[in-house]
Parts: sequence; C-alpha cells; structure tokens
Amino acid sequence: MSKYEIESMSHGAYAISTDPDSGKKIFAENACPGDILELEIYDERKDFSFAHITELVSKSDLREEDPKCKLHKICGSCQWQHIKYEEQLNFKKQNLLDLLKQNQVDLSNFGDLDENISVTGLDDPWHYRNKVIYPVSSVKSTGRVMAGYYKRKSNDLINIKYCPIQYEIFDQVIDRLKELCTEYGIHDPLLRHMLLRASHDQSELLISFIVRGKLLSEADLEAIEKIFEQIYGEYEQLKVCTLNINDDSTNVILGKETRLVKGERDFIYDQIKDVKVKISTSSFFQINNKQFTNILDSIIGYVKEIKPLQVLDAYAGLGSISLNLAKSLPEMKFEAFEINSSAVADAHENILENELNNLNYIEASAEDYFRSLEAEFDLIILNPPRKGCTNKVLNEIVARDEVKDIVYLSCNPATLARDIKYLEKKSDFVLQSIKAFDMFPHSFHLESLVWLSRATDSNL
Ligand SMILES: C[S@@+](CC[C@H](N)C(=O)[O-])C[C@H]1O[C@@H](n2cnc3c(N)ncnc32)[C@H](O)[C@@H]1O
Repeated sequence: MSKYEIESMSHGAYAISTDPDSGKKIFAENACPGDILELEIYDERKDFSFAHITELVSKSDLREEDPKCKLHKICGSCQWQHIKYEEQLNFKKQNLLDLLKQNQVDLSNFGDLDENISVTGLDDPWHYRNKVIYPVSSVKSTGRVMAGYYKRKSNDLINIKYCPIQYEIFDQVIDRLKELCTEYGIHDPLLRHMLLRASHDQSELLISFIVRGKLLSEADLEAIEKIFEQIYGEYEQLKVCTLNINDDSTNVILGKETRLVKGERDFIYDQIKDVKVKISTSSFFQINNKQFTNILDSIIGYVKEIKPLQVLDAYAGLGSISLNLAKSLPEMKFEAFEINSSAVADAHENILENELNNLNYIEASAEDYFRSLEAEFDLIILNPPRKGCTNKVLNEIVARDEVKDIVYLSCNPATLARDIKYLEKKSDFVLQSIKAFDMFPHSFHLESLVWLSRATDSNL
C-alpha cells in the first residue's frame, strides 16, 4: 500500500493529500497536515478520491496528543478535534482566505493577508455550546432510550454520555431524561429530538421534547407531563419544559407549534453583553456567548466608526445585535426585521425589558421587507443563515444609493465570499475590514465579519 503525505485541510471534515502518480486529490477524515499515512481508497471519482486511514506511519506535530472526547473520530459534531487548537485557527484562516481568493474578491487593500487577517480564538475552547439538540432512538428489545449525535455520514446514533463542547449541566440532565423516558416508555418514533438550552451562567435551563403530533396519544402526553414534573423538581435551574410538535418529514428539526408543559414562563433569560434577552424554544440564539460578545464589540466598533444616521439589522433573530447597538448608541435610530414569529415576539419583549425607544422591530422575510422598503438606511447589517443572501435581496440593497455601508456577519465563509463578490461586481462596494471568530471550536465551521463601503475617492 502506498504512503501519502497530508498537505492541507479542506473546507470541511477532510484533510487533503495528492496521489503522486495521477495528481488526483485524495480526501481523508481524521488526518492532519504533516501526517504520513497509508490510505485505502473507498470511493474513486473522476477528479478526486476518498480514503480511509489504514496506518499512521508518521504523526504530524500539529496533531493533538490527547483529544478530550473518545468519540471524536466518529461523531459528526467535532471533525477537527484531533488537531491542536492553535492549528485549527490557522487552518480556518487559510480556508477563509482561499474562498475569498477563489471568488476573486478584491483583497488589494489588505497587504500581507497572513499578517493582517486573524481568527480570534478562545482561551478555553471547551464547554461553549449553550444549546444541544439530540436525536432520539431506542433499543427495540429493551425499550432503553438513547440520545446523541449521528455517526458521520450515517443515520446510526451515538448514545452520548459526555460531550466536552457543550455546557456541563447538559450531560447530567440528558442522562436523567433518558432514564425517565425509558421508565415512562417515551421514545422514537414519537419522540424525535431532545432540545436543551441554558443561559451563559447555567442558572436558567429550558428543555423541549420535539414530537410527532400525529403519534401523540393522551397517555403519551400524561407520561411526558410526569417526566417533566419529576425532572423539574430535581434541577432548580430548570425553568421551562415545552413540547414542540413537528409532523414534517423534512430535516427541519423544530415544528411551528410549541406548548408549555411545565414552568411559569415559556422562555429563559440570558444576558448578552449589555442586554437582558428572553429566549424561547424555537428562537435563534448564537451558540457561543463568549465569542459572540467579542463579535458584538467589533460590530459596535464599526458602527461608531461609520457614524450612520439610520441602521437596519437584517435577519435579526431575537435581536442580539440590534438590542446591543440600541443600548450602546442611544442617540442613533435602529430598525430590525426577522422572519421567525417566535423570535420577533421575543424581540418585542426584549425591547420593553431593556427600556429601549430607538429600535423598531418588524416581522418579515428579507425578500418582502426590501421590496416594500421606504425608509432610508445608510448602514445595513446582514446576518443571514448559512445559505447567505439571495441575489434578489442583494440587488435591492445595491439599488439603494443611500446604503453606504454593509456589515456582514456570516457562519459560512463560502456563501460570504460569494456574496461579497456579487456586491463588488454589481456595485461599487469595497471591502474595508475582515475579521474571523472561532465560534465553533473543534469543528471546521467559522464565523466571519466583514465591512464593505461604497467606493469614494478616499477609500478607492
Ligand atoms: C444566523 S441567524 C442570525 C440572528 C441574529 N442576527 C443573531 O445574531 O442572533 C439568521 C436569522 O435569519 C432568519 N431568517 C432566515 N431566513 C430569513 C429570511 N428569508 N428573511 C428574514 N429572516 C430570515 C432566521 O430565522 C434566523 O433568526
């Protein structure tokens, strides 16, 4: 069997080598640049192949000696845990730069890219996830309930007992929920997922069971009430237990209907930078409070430098960005829109809770909002989902001459690079600043923040 040297990391789970004979790229999981490996090709395509490691001939110095999680090689959640944390940050930066270059984004303002663009890491890159959603399965012969993540590229569930990237309290509570569900006979296919969410200090906890409504009998409902009643008495942090109904067969996890089953309110409170936020079961909330606080500091910094008259926060969720901007900059006026009605309801209460009178919040899709927009914003903050913005939305933005600046926060460097290039091509937007933040340590994912301005004589 031939030996291969690993050269780089891909924009996903794979590391890359090149077949010296054919010149074809070979993609292998759990490999690290600098490794010399024996590989077995299991999927050969026209231009590249996929391979398994059969032997680690010589280990790279960039490998993590002792990964925290025993399941990291198979679990779909942490694809890069076998790489030293500092090196993960370097590979993420390289991937971001590669994508910007592949999309031919104009980087001429940035001089030495390696020097001038960095990824902000975390001093402690563990126990950062404030929310988990575990799919549920059960052992058919015994009825024992299991919950965890899927194995990579498979529908086989790993019954997780310990996960070092999520808040510590989740391990114990999920374990107890599995015991109670086994005792009361609540499992798949009725119970699809367990969702847990906690405030950053873990003083407030929310549990939701996502169930198929069509399969939910009166007896099941009673059993779920008993499970929630029992666990509510065991954890003083537990404030909310909800049932979310999802009968769809798509991969969208949460359904539209959420019912409060136990608790005095159907949301938890958290603090994000300077504002208190209310978070319901199905509202989007950034997963890593510490790193999101760093991002908010940068966004506030940009806004202070830009000094806009009117700011729009687009794809605003429950308002984490605009609430903080409105609080830090009381002399400015802000508007925000979001498609998810639960997040918008949370946002309205968050505005009242934080006594803000300079933020207007609207429920709308981006497409509808921009089509009927009359107000004139000179700064637009974009934070779309992974798929990025549609051309329709970007066209509406570039057509408005009053929009002088865009601050774009993205969890997907590929769609971010695509959208920056589109803005450069369609209009005279110029990239002013690029920052990246490691919001998802040990995975290949990266959060990036850029600022673009309309070209003027001074920034050309
Ligand atoms: C990445 S999250 C950002 C949320 C918010 N900026 C924050 O930091 O918490 C993207 C948000 O866009 C919303 N969204 C998705 N598609 C949308 C659309 N077509 N129009 C408006 N909002 C949309 C989602 O519901 C989600 O809340």
